[in-house]
Formats: sequence, structure tokens, C-alpha cells
Amino acid sequence: MSVLVTGGAGYIGAHVVRLLQQEGTDVVVVDDLSSSIASRVGESPLVELDISAPDAERVLAEVMREHQVDAVIHFAAKKQVGESVQRPLYYYRQNLGGLVNVLDAMEAAGVRKIIYSSSAAVYGEPEEAVVLEDSRTSPINPYGRSKLVGEWIMEDCERAWGLKWVALRYFNVAGAGWDDLGDPAIMNLIPMVLDRLERGEQPRVFGDDYPTPDGTCIRDYVHVRDLAEAHIAAMRALDGELSHHSYNVGTGQGASVKQVVDAVGAVSGLDTTPVVEPRRAGDPPKLVASPDRIADDMGFRSSTGLDEIVESAWSAWQAGPRHIDV
Ligand code: NAD
Ligand code: WQD
Repeated sequence: MSVLVTGGAGYIGAHVVRLLQQEGTDVVVVDDLSSSIASRVGESPLVELDISAPDAERVLAEVMREHQVDAVIHFAAKKQVGESVQRPLYYYRQNLGGLVNVLDAMEAAGVRKIIYSSSAAVYGEPEEAVVLEDSRTSPINPYGRSKLVGEWIMEDCERAWGLKWVALRYFNVAGAGWDDLGDPAIMNLIPMVLDRLERGEQPRVFGDDYPTPDGTCIRDYVHVRDLAEAHIAAMRALDGELSHHSYNVGTGQGASVKQVVDAVGAVSGLDTTPVVEPRRAGDPPKLVASPDRIADDMGFRSSTGLDEIVESAWSAWQAGPRHIDV
């Protein structure tokens, strides 16, 4: 048996690849290296391919047959919310075109199991304090829509040819499981704070007048190593009967922007006094996962706290290699 990991050189994918390698599972990675580097994959075979390219489904099916692939873990996608608003068709082509090619190849090669990277972005701006999987899905940008439509496409394939699928809706992924696997992009809060500090600048806080205890936005930060373990749990669970398809991956605990910035200060010993800037468009005040469904159905719970997440991000940041321009 082997597992095909698309996007396996990326931030989250490389963690899953390493966990699979450590447990002795054969892995083959498909990645176009558009936002990553090959060395993150280690010893596993890497096929360099843009999965959204017109001929990709044929190559993917060949890879699946050659490596006797039993399950796919599908990370490869573009993930910049702002860019998705500017270039919606590019996002649909990459994220949905890529998924359709992967599914087409799976049907052709007789591979039936897929774990899919979905996102809290499918919920948009929820009204609930804690988001359940049955909360209304109402994405507010093309990136979030592409993730939700991806779930619908897999539902259709289940009906048509028996696809077995799980969508993991990640909340705010952060930290590093190993120093060489830190987040290579400077797109999210913790890398952005570290980047500003490295330049000798103050971290920025986008709005401190939200209806939250300290006025800054609250998010659910999940350690990337825990998230990687959720994929292993989901892959095992797909061998049995699951009562649901979509699962939040978060901790159920919220942390504010100020708390995150303070945690970086405590871990690094640097002065992290922030500069407060205006609110960023489209930021919900509070987004926290209900983590119970995945705990009940798969026995997975993420409990790593903010301090440990920030410590691991800081350690990987210092170890380098630094970010990759995307
Ligand atoms: P990442 O950019 O580090 O990894 C994506 C990987 O996919 C990269 O190695 C990239 O080179 C590859 N890739 C991109 N487009 C490709 C294509 N067309 N063909 C082949 N390879 C391609 O991102 P990540 O943070 O590891 O995210 C992985 C997945 O998780 C994505 O689907 C993303 O939308 C989703 N997600 C991420 C977060 C987060 O906070 N990082 C949150 C929710 C969901
Ligand atoms: C977190 C909070 C910012 C930088 C995004 C995507 C979401 C998912 C996870 C992929 C917000 C604030 C940030 C800074 C700040 N990704 N902030 N100063 O927006 O919650 O979620 O990543 O699926 O779809 O939207 O994450 O890390 O950008 O921001 O004050 O320098 O930190 O305003 O409140 P976000 P983030």
C-alpha cells in the first residue's frame, strides 16, 4: 500500500509526509514546487507536476498505478485569500481544476479514498461563538468558495462511483513539528509578526476595537503537527464507516491577536509592542472551532496550547531556511 500526497512539499503536506515516513508507510509526492522546495519531502519519490494542467490526470493515474496507491491526501492548492479575490478564475482552475484531475485519475486507477484540505474559510463570517460543522457554510471569497465546492464535487463522486472521502476544515494552522518544516510563507499572523521583528519593525495589529475582551480578533490556532496527525487518523477512519464527511480541525480554544503577539514576545525575549492599524476587510471578530465531531468519530483531539505553538514557530524561524516567495 502507498499514499499519494499532493502538495506534499508544502507547509502542512511535508508534516504529513514525515509522519507517514516515520510509521513506515510508502509515500509518493506530487507537487509543482510553486510554493515549496523539494528537500522538504526527504527520501520519498517526488513527481513534479502542476495538477491543474490539461494532461495532469493521465500522469496522475500513471503515478497511482505505478506506486499502487491506496489513498490520496490532497493538499495541493493556492491559498491566498486576497489573491483569490483579484484572480478568481485562476483560483478555480488551480483548486477545482486540480481536484477534478486528481479525482478523474483516482476513478481511472481504481483508487477510492481521499483526504481533502478544506478550510474554516467555508464558514465565511459565522455568527456563532463556536463553529460546528453543521453551521451555515457561506464563504465570502473565491478561495473559500473553491474549498466548499471541492466538498460538493467529492459528494457527487461518492454517489457516482463510490468515492470515500473526508474533508478536514482547518482553522488557523501554526507552528512547526520539526525545525526544518516551518511555514515557508509570510502570510499569516505568526510569520508576519516574526518577519516584522526581524526587520526591526513593530508587529501590526489590524484593529483593536472588535467586540472581544481585548478588542482584537480571536482565532483558533492549531499546531501543524497535531493537524498532520489528524490526517493519519482520518486515513485510518476511512477504512471503516464514517457518519460524516466534513470535520473541523481546531482546539476549541480561542486566542486573540494581542495574546499571540505577547506570546511571541515572551518566547523570543523581543519587544513586541505592536502598532495598531485599521481593521482588515473581511475579518470576523471571532472564529473558533467546535472540535468534538472529529474527537467523537476518529478519537482525534488537538490540545497543544498557544505557547508551545509559538515556541515551535520561533525555533523553526531561527533555524531557517526562511520564507519562499510565492
Ligand atoms: P502550501 O502553499 O505550503 O502548500 C501547498 C503545496 O501545494 C505547495 O508545496 C505547492 O507547491 C503545491 N501546489 C500548489 N499548487 C499546485 C498545483 N497546481 N500542482 C501541484 N502542486 C501544487 O500551503 P499549506 O499551508 O501547506 O496548505 C495546504 C492545503 O491546506 C491547501 O489546500 C490550503 O488551501 C489548505 N489550508 C491551509 C491552511 C493554512 O492555514 N495553512 C488553512 C486551511 C486550509
Ligand atoms: C489572524 C488574525 C488578522 C497579521 C486565514 C485565511 C483562512 C485560513 C487561515 C486558509 C486576523 C490578524 C494578521 C498581522 C494582525 N487559511 N493579523 N496582524 O485571516 O484568520 O485566516 O488563514 O484556508 O482562510 O483567511 O489568518 O493569520 O491572516 O490572521 O493583526 O500582521 O491576525 O487581522 O484577525 P485568518 P491570519
